[in-house]
Amino acid sequence: MPSPTKNPHLPFGDQRSAPWYGKDIISVKQFSRSDLEYIFGVAHEMRVMVERVGTFDLLKGKILASIFYEPSTRTSSSFIAAMERLGGNVININEVRYSSVAKGESLPDTIKTLECYADVIVIRHPELGSAAKAAEAAHKPVINAGDGVGEHPTQALLDAFTIREELGRMDDLTVTMLGDLKYGRTVHSLSRLLSLYNSRLHYVSPEILRMPPEIIAELEAKGMRQTEHRTLDQALPETDVLYVTRVQRERFESEEVYESVKSAYVLDKNIMSAAKSKMIVMHPLPRVTEISTDFDDDPRAAYFRQMEYGLYVRMALLAMVLGKA
Ligand code: CP
Repeated sequence: MPSPTKNPHLPFGDQRSAPWYGKDIISVKQFSRSDLEYIFGVAHEMRVMVERVGTFDLLKGKILASIFYEPSTRTSSSFIAAMERLGGNVININEVRYSSVAKGESLPDTIKTLECYADVIVIRHPELGSAAKAAEAAHKPVINAGDGVGEHPTQALLDAFTIREELGRMDDLTVTMLGDLKYGRTVHSLSRLLSLYNSRLHYVSPEILRMPPEIIAELEAKGMRQTEHRTLDQALPETDVLYVTRVQRERFESEEVYESVKSAYVLDKNIMSAAKSKMIVMHPLPRVTEISTDFDDDPRAAYFRQMEYGLYVRMALLAMVLGKA
């Protein structure tokens, strides 16, 4: 469900009744199944428009402030591309050490500054809860582009859109999540979205990187069927979506512990011979060694297509929170 509306003063031409106008996007917990259907519909329209005309002026005159306190290639550049394909402009800060953050400026003050110049703010920050803190400080909509080990809601929405576009449905799916399920915020967010559907989840991870028990309990209460494994062999043959994650070196306090699990799973052509012929392999990327490049040409390898779906979803979200969808 949308959060309370911010910025009630709409310029002429904006849609006052648009359900997501002025809302923050902080957690996937905000979304119902019908919200997802709505987003998928808008994202699909964006895809058609980009394929037909490339760039169009839906957000002409609007400005996005994009601030990343952690590295990013896909999320940062796809939000910029999304705004520019919609005819808007971007203030891009992806090296906060060159901003006043380096002088000790607080997160709320930085956000209050950016909203003087922009209509919407996208933020990635290493601290859990930072996006919510930014949203509290702002009168303009704030979109969470990843808050530490917390959530990455726009990634989960693009993941769900990828599944929907590639397999044509979200119900009756067996989804297997593989790798770092403890620190992987994308799997935390996606598993919550999948709980809105009639799906089954397998979690395959080393013992020390298990899906957090509180997320398992949260989904259990919603009736989600979940099974944990240490190896892939049992789950793979029935899997419709294999969601692979990177073991995130930057989240470990000990290099030795990271070394002990970093190569726990390496997906390749040989392993994938046990999988269905009609299924997809996803990965939020970047990858390190967990998917061998020898699998990239397989039609089931959806991870590069997944990045493109992200552009359409982020175009949809920007248009929605700015009252144009
Ligand atoms: N999937 C994802 O968040 O990638 P980036 O870290 O490159 O943004």
